[in-house]
Amino acid sequence: MTVHLGSLRLRNPLMLASGVAGYGHELGDVIDLGRVGAVVTKTLTLKPRQGNAPPRLAEVPSGLLNSIGLANVGSRAFISEHLDRLRNLDTRIIVSVGGFTVAEYAKLVLELEEVGGFDAYEVNISCPNVKAGGVNFGSTPGKAAGVVRALRSKTGRPLIVKLTPNVTDIPSVAVACESEGADALTVGNTFRAMAVDLDSRRPVLGATGGGLSGPAIKAMCMAKVWEVVSSVRTPVIACGGICSAGDALEYIVVGAAAFQVGSACFRDFRAPESILEGITEFCRRKGVRSVAELRGTLELPRT
Ligand SMILES: Cc1cc2nc3c(=O)[nH]c(=O)nc-3n(C[C@H](O)[C@H](O)[C@H](O)COP(=O)(O)O)c2cc1C
Repeated sequence: MTVHLGSLRLRNPLMLASGVAGYGHELGDVIDLGRVGAVVTKTLTLKPRQGNAPPRLAEVPSGLLNSIGLANVGSRAFISEHLDRLRNLDTRIIVSVGGFTVAEYAKLVLELEEVGGFDAYEVNISCPNVKAGGVNFGSTPGKAAGVVRALRSKTGRPLIVKLTPNVTDIPSVAVACESEGADALTVGNTFRAMAVDLDSRRPVLGATGGGLSGPAIKAMCMAKVWEVVSSVRTPVIACGGICSAGDALEYIVVGAAAFQVGSACFRDFRAPESILEGITEFCRRKGVRSVAELRGTLELPRT
C-alpha cells in the first residue's frame, strides 16, 4: 500500500481531505488516524476567521454544498493549541495553508517553518468560498506560479498544491505549479454551486453560492485528473467524490498516485477504513502486489 509523493512516503494512498478532520482530533475518536496515509488539516490562514454566514452546509442530490469560507483558528492558535497533538498522531501530517495575498501565504509558511514538526504543506489555491484570495490564485497559471514560487524559496518541505476544478484549462495551471517546484498536485476542490429554497425563494446557503462535493462531482473530477496526469510528471492526488474502494481505484488506474476522502466521512465515518479494506481485497483478488502497480494502467481505445 506504500506510495511516494516526491520525498513524502505514505503508508497507504488514503489521505483525509482538508476540512474533514479539522486539526486531527475532531475525528480522532471515531477514525483510527493511525491507519490512514495522511491527515490534511483544515486550511489555516494567518489570522483567525469566522467564515461565512450560516447556513453553511446543505445536502443536495448526490452531494454536499458548503460555504464555510475558510473558518479557522489562525496560525498562532494552531501552533500553540493544536500542533503538539497533531505531532503525536501516527500518520503523516499535512498542513493546509491559505491566504489572501502572496505575502500572506509566505508569512504563514515562515511562521510554521519556525516551529516545524509536520510533514508537508498543501497549498490551497482553490477555495471557492472567499471573495478574495483562494480560488483566484488557482484560476490562472501566472497567479498560481506566483504563490508556489514564493513558498518554494521559504521551505524544503514537500509542497502539494491543491488546484481548483473551476477552470477551463487545468493543465496550464498544473504545468505552471510544476515548473515552480510543486512536489505534488491535488486535483481538485469543490465545484462552484448553488441551491434555492422554493418556498422562501431564498438561496439555501447564507453565502448564496458554495462548493459542491461528494459523489455528484466524481466523474467531473476524474476528467480533471486525467487532463492533469496527461500533462505533468508531478504526482497527482485525486480528490472528489470518493466513497468506495472502487472510486479510489478508478482514480489510481487513471494515474493518481494517492487520493483524498472528504464528504464520504460525514456520511459514514467508517468510510476510510472500508475503502482501505476494499483496496486490499481488490488487489488480492486480482493478484496485484502493490497499489503503485495499478497506477496509470488505463487501457485506451486504439485510434
Ligand atoms: C465542510 C467542508 C469543508 C472543507 N474545507 C476545506 C478547506 O478548509 N480547505 C480545502 O482545501 N478544502 C476544503 N474542503 C474541500 C475538500 O477538502 C475536498 O476537496 C472536496 O470536498 C472534494 O472532495 P469530496 O468530494 O471527497 O468531499 C472542504 C469540504 C467540505 C465538505
